[in-house]
Amino acid sequence: MKLVVNEQEYDVEVTPDMPLLWVLRDELGIKGPKFGCGIAMCGACTVHIDGRPVRACSYPASAVQGAVTTIEGLGQPDALHTVQHAWIEHQVAQCGYCQSGQIMSAAALLETNNNPSDAEIDTAMSGNLCRCGTYPKIRAAIKSAAQALRSQSVPQNDDAEGTA
Ligand code: FES
Ligand code: FES
Repeated sequence: MKLVVNEQEYDVEVTPDMPLLWVLRDELGIKGPKFGCGIAMCGACTVHIDGRPVRACSYPASAVQGAVTTIEGLGQPDALHTVQHAWIEHQVAQCGYCQSGQIMSAAALLETNNNPSDAEIDTAMSGNLCRCGTYPKIRAAIKSAAQALRSQSVPQNDDAEGTA
């Protein structure tokens, strides 16, 4: 089967029911998405398919229709994604295990909503667990990434309030 991951096309020979996470990690050597629970309960394996967050551990590779993005494809060390930048600014990570999944969920949220309320953040991030308890820093980083995205957006004529 063919898969596009981080803008690169791969031809992989796997059984159709193999979860996407296994294909990414074991077949393609892309280790950013982590194995946590394996049953779509922790979010450590979160990747995007066409910008939508999915739990790769519970998503058959054969069901993938669209481009897959992992943390490796979100930004680059010399061109960080806004969310990655905010994560560093707020020093979010502790052990770090959950963090690629957290960042992928946060980036997907901000793609559709660049001014999320606390409740919207909590809802979007509720499937991403952190045993180190970094939740307050995650929320702060999401807010600061949202603000950065709003200030980057081009003002529309007379509707330019709040832009820098
Ligand atoms: S490893 Fe996929 S949700 Fe936990
Ligand atoms: S930073 Fe350790 S599990 Fe989240």
